Amino acid sequence: MITTELEQLRAEALASLEQAETLDALREWRVTYLGRRGRLTQVLRQLGTIPPEERPRVGAVANRIKDELEAAYEAREAVLKEAALAVTLAAERVDVTLPGRPVDLGGYHPTTLVLREITSAFAELGFQVVEGPEVEWDYYNFEALNIPRDHPARDMWNSFWLTPGGTEAERPMLLRTHTSPMQIRVMEKFRPPIRVVVPGRCYRYEATDATHESMFYQFEGLAVDEGLTFADLKGTLYAFARMLFGPERRVRFRCDYFPFVEPGCDMSIDCSHCGGQGCRVCGGSGWIEIMGAGMVHPQVLRNVGLDPDRYQGFAFGGGPERVAMLKYGIEDIRHFYANDLRFLRQFRW
Ligand code: DAH
Repeated sequence: MITTELEQLRAEALASLEQAETLDALREWRVTYLGRRGRLTQVLRQLGTIPPEERPRVGAVANRIKDELEAAYEAREAVLKEAALAVTLAAERVDVTLPGRPVDLGGYHPTTLVLREITSAFAELGFQVVEGPEVEWDYYNFEALNIPRDHPARDMWNSFWLTPGGTEAERPMLLRTHTSPMQIRVMEKFRPPIRVVVPGRCYRYEATDATHESMFYQFEGLAVDEGLTFADLKGTLYAFARMLFGPERRVRFRCDYFPFVEPGCDMSIDCSHCGGQGCRVCGGSGWIEIMGAGMVHPQVLRNVGLDPDRYQGFAFGGGPERVAMLKYGIEDIRHFYANDLRFLRQFRW
């Protein structure tokens, strides 16, 4: 009898369902009993062999059992899924009361901080920020700046030549010793009125001490226009000094010599480390020189094809590390690039 067979299948299926402990086993159970080639289908195939008037009754029994097995399957699946979830939750339990792992924040280097302040101060005065190459031609670093080959003025800059040995004519490239070559590059590219400020790395083949490094930064400034005078230079640098150091800081200009300016000067600020008393940072003088400056030499203007009778310019160049030393009271420039985190972490923001 088919109905007996169906009842047996029902009992067997329900018993076997109880044994299914995992979702995989459960899926297998479904294929075995309810699948297209499963046990229930096999039994129902025999429906054709029984008398037609019996078929509705047997069919109804079969449907009831099928529904019952489906429902049992779903109930068992829900139980197993919940159990699996409970296992995962237990294994991946997070203790939200644990203290978090500290996030190590990076910070800006003091040179970067100060260079940003410097460039934005000059930007406020109408200067545009430009940058240039660190590997430079002799022509831009010296020649065009009115520092000819074999001229004693070259002794002011001890250079890292890129092609060692030989005569000067045979070593045309070097690591720039200052940002001044950008004066020439800018004047070759733009016509007056020009107002630029150039931050960048420079290199000198020198012994280091508390105020000298062989790699350091500079910021260069250049203004070229008709009718510029030394008063424009002083006014600009006074305004800059007030913006960076506050109105109470004292500023001093003295005559100085640089081959690419005439007249030339340097600008110092009273040493914030000792308050002007004299210390190791200021070399005992109470002043720290932060910039060289002057009126662009007529020969330099001629070198870029500008007529010095029509155009005048002023230029300045300074060391941001020295500015940072003044602002933050740092006593030795060698701290800057020694990569000591105890030093660098003081300047996070
Ligand atoms: N380039 C000079 C140096 O490195 C600094 C300097 C002096 C730049 C006078 C200037 C200037 O633009 O006018 O020593």
